[in-house]
Amino acid sequence: MIISNPRHPRSSVFMANNKITIAVDGYSSCGKSTLSNDLAHALGYAYIDTGAMYRAVTLHCMEKGIISSTQFSVEGIVAELPHIKLAFHFNDKSEIFLNGRNVEKEIRSMEVATRVSRVSTVHEVRMQMVDQQREMGKQGGVVMDGRDIGTTVFPHAELKIFMTASEDIRIQRRKLEMESKGIKTTLEEVRKNIHQRDEDDTTRKESPLRQAEDALVLDNSNLTREQQLELALSWAKERM
Ligand code: DC
Repeated sequence: MIISNPRHPRSSVFMANNKITIAVDGYSSCGKSTLSNDLAHALGYAYIDTGAMYRAVTLHCMEKGIISSTQFSVEGIVAELPHIKLAFHFNDKSEIFLNGRNVEKEIRSMEVATRVSRVSTVHEVRMQMVDQQREMGKQGGVVMDGRDIGTTVFPHAELKIFMTASEDIRIQRRKLEMESKGIKTTLEEVRKNIHQRDEDDTTRKESPLRQAEDALVLDNSNLTREQQLELALSWAKERM
């Protein structure tokens, strides 16, 4: 796993001696990536979107014909893992590369979104992703978002944030996000996908989504982007 981050070594807004690890978990479309990206930018940290890693694995397996609307081969997915190289590159935002190809847009499609939760239940996939995530975050100075970061990947993270937002707001946000990427969808389609993923993410056997006991809850239903950043930054600074 490669991380390239031109802004990583220097802090853009806030200077502190101690580079901490910040884990951001929560349901889909709660604004985790917006907050995590803003936090990383403010602190001069790397931002790792772990959902993008599971999505990229899903995309790769779809392209290889291992996963489709009628097919799902766990053996096939596991056999492909050695052929999947993921990397993040950072400029203004974090972008994921699959075997050298920028797939940041493709991994946001509805086809990937409907299949990724199932792929993320495969034990070998999780082990490989978690290993890579630990490697990327081992020196601190990282904001990592996902479902199991505070519970499994970095149970000793200095700051754990569990994000929530009302369902209607989450659905609106996901629809806008998809539209901004040129992907057409309907509110109903987004609602169904979000419900299904919540159900899959919270009920899977391995590393289900749950709030870590020591996580701070951030409900951003009625917060602006600036307000949620201000709150999270104040929590981060208390822990540096
Ligand atoms: O954050 P996202 O919607 O891009 O995540 C895509 C899927 O990946 C989500 O349905 C659950 C899975 N995921 C996971 O199991 N563990 C993570 N740390 C991140 C995402």
